[in-house]
Amino acid sequence: MSITKGLRLPVLVAPMFLVSGVEMVVAAARAGVLGAFPTPNCRTAAELDRWMAEVAARVEGRPWAVNVITHSSNPRLADDLALIAKYRPPVLITALGSPAAAVATAHGYGGMVMADVPNVALARKALAAGADGLACLAAGAGGHTGSLSPFAFVSAVRRFHRGPLSIGGGIGDGAGIAAALAAGADMACMGTHFIACDESLAGSDYKQAVVAAGLEDIVLSDRVTGTMASWLRASLAAAGYLADDGSTPNRNYEAGAAAGRWRDIWSAGQGVGAIRHTAPLETIIDELEAEYREVVLRLPKMM
Ligand SMILES: Cc1cc2nc3c(=O)[nH]c(=O)nc-3n(C[C@H](O)[C@H](O)[C@H](O)COP(=O)(O)O)c2cc1C
Repeated sequence: MSITKGLRLPVLVAPMFLVSGVEMVVAAARAGVLGAFPTPNCRTAAELDRWMAEVAARVEGRPWAVNVITHSSNPRLADDLALIAKYRPPVLITALGSPAAAVATAHGYGGMVMADVPNVALARKALAAGADGLACLAAGAGGHTGSLSPFAFVSAVRRFHRGPLSIGGGIGDGAGIAAALAAGADMACMGTHFIACDESLAGSDYKQAVVAAGLEDIVLSDRVTGTMASWLRASLAAAGYLADDGSTPNRNYEAGAAAGRWRDIWSAGQGVGAIRHTAPLETIIDELEAEYREVVLRLPKMM
């Protein structure tokens, strides 16, 4: 089972809340990488039905992926899985909960499940629940981040898992893609790097902010969603979240409630400094491929 079959570059254009939509997934497929959108980006199941019908028609048989939140706070999980069974995305990425229900659906039509996991214990649990592969989330990621070194994480997981594996967190250039593969992953998972692409649903002020930002502008906080996530400092400060009021943050992944916060408080990972411009997704893939080739050709000379 190969997650990179048919791809020009081993890159997962990661699913991003309020950022990834139909255009991004179609552009990723056409550019020869794997794109995904999270189902909560559709407000209703009817909207998700339209999005998936459009993507399925426009990718013309190329690989694409959908991301489902399998946490118990997702009231639409059953509806989303029914639509997934209807449109059969080749890859299903699960997040924030057990992949078991998604596994039953995906395996029913020959799809592959990649479980998004931030640590080794959850990686083992996801595989025990039937996931085919792991989308390992390391330190420095945009959105809800992991905290492990990508090198230590991939090395630990490769001791018990030979199947599909992506690693994400702070990868911002072709050298990072090569490093992910050198570490033992099959592909690099990159979200932040695509926030400013033309096909992204992010507003122009958010896009400009990520183009202008550097590593020093990223802060970690669990105060927005109850789970540690990476944010652009200025937007977090403007929303009043940088002042520690001593309260315990509540976990809240519910899409409706989250939408307001994620719209005003902008998330980005530590690779933000590598974003040079707003550009079509395909141009960004061209740039990444050139950087990746340069590194891969340089490495043998070191032997
Ligand atoms: C703005 C934003 C929103 C995100 N939303 C989601 C999401 O809805 N579901 C999910 O599984 N991951 C989400 N992520 C995490 C990405 O899928 C991916 O794991 C991460 O972006 C990789 O790290 P990087 O941003 O440093 O490249 C989000 C990331 C960002 C930057």
